[in-house]
Amino acid sequence: PKERGWLATHLYRYQGFWHNSRQLGGVLGCQQHFQAQDTDVLLVTTPKSGTTWLKAIMFTLVNRIHSPVTHEHPLLTNNPHELVPFLELKLYVDTHIPNLTSFSSPRLFSTHLPFVSLPKSVLESGCKLVYLCRDPRDTFVSLWHFTNKLRPQSHGTTSSLEEVFDKFCRGVSLCGPFWDHVLHYWKESLSNPEKIFFLKYEDMKEHPQLHLRRLAEFIGCPFSPEEETKGVVDDILGLCSFDNLSKLKVNVDGKLSSGEENKAFFRQGEVGDWKNYLTAEMVDQLDKIGEEKFYGSGLKL
Ligand code: A3P
Repeated sequence: PKERGWLATHLYRYQGFWHNSRQLGGVLGCQQHFQAQDTDVLLVTTPKSGTTWLKAIMFTLVNRIHSPVTHEHPLLTNNPHELVPFLELKLYVDTHIPNLTSFSSPRLFSTHLPFVSLPKSVLESGCKLVYLCRDPRDTFVSLWHFTNKLRPQSHGTTSSLEEVFDKFCRGVSLCGPFWDHVLHYWKESLSNPEKIFFLKYEDMKEHPQLHLRRLAEFIGCPFSPEEETKGVVDDILGLCSFDNLSKLKVNVDGKLSSGEENKAFFRQGEVGDWKNYLTAEMVDQLDKIGEEKFYGSGLKL
């Protein structure tokens, strides 16, 4: 049973990517049963690239008319993962087929699925995808911390940085190979920019207002002049900031319905923490893999 959690040590390769047993069941379930609607927005990320942040931002953006940023906003009392559920890690786990009729339109879901494994209806419908990725150096460091934070809670053992690094470089990580995951969405976003919005964590950190406005346009609800005057863009970013979310009671001592502590999803929220963990050789190794995998694609992380 301890192998059933998010961070189970055994991974299984399916359609070229690695999944744990809990996730794999969910992948098969949503591939078989999830029916995307034209108005859906699917948030796709590699693990530890800022999924929690993206969920908070997109939830607030999409629902801003009915749920403006006030002291009663749902994010103040709910972790973003409860508001925007994962298809394969929450809705379709354990052969469960969820009833999604209670979701109001536009529905927001999230997934770590690689492009090849997306349910058919996602590609066949008008559903839009927002893809978020992050510098592999920071993604890896964040992943290592997260794994070691949660694994002891499920009575598993912790892993050394070197051990997890070696596997990450060989592509053996949740939804890895990391580079293949990113590259595929990058290529698809180039050929179909109306369907897939490709975003980097670092760009969002550097120019949050710019990218929030672009996201609003992408999903077809740009900020009105009146909203601009009222400062809604900054209200959303302020509500969803690391500082704000990580200090909320729900994220300090709350838990997800699946048992993980909410605080595990908030560590530093900064760019460049890899400098405190990776040796020059490790950085070289990651750079080389990136150069090889992304060669000729125009993509740089
Ligand atoms: P660090 O471990 O580098 O701090 P995910 O949500 O995909 O699991 O990714 C988690 C990473 O996003 C963690 O990175 C976490 O601290 C960071 N994060 C969480 N909330 C954030 C926010 N509101 N703004 C920026 N980064 C955030």
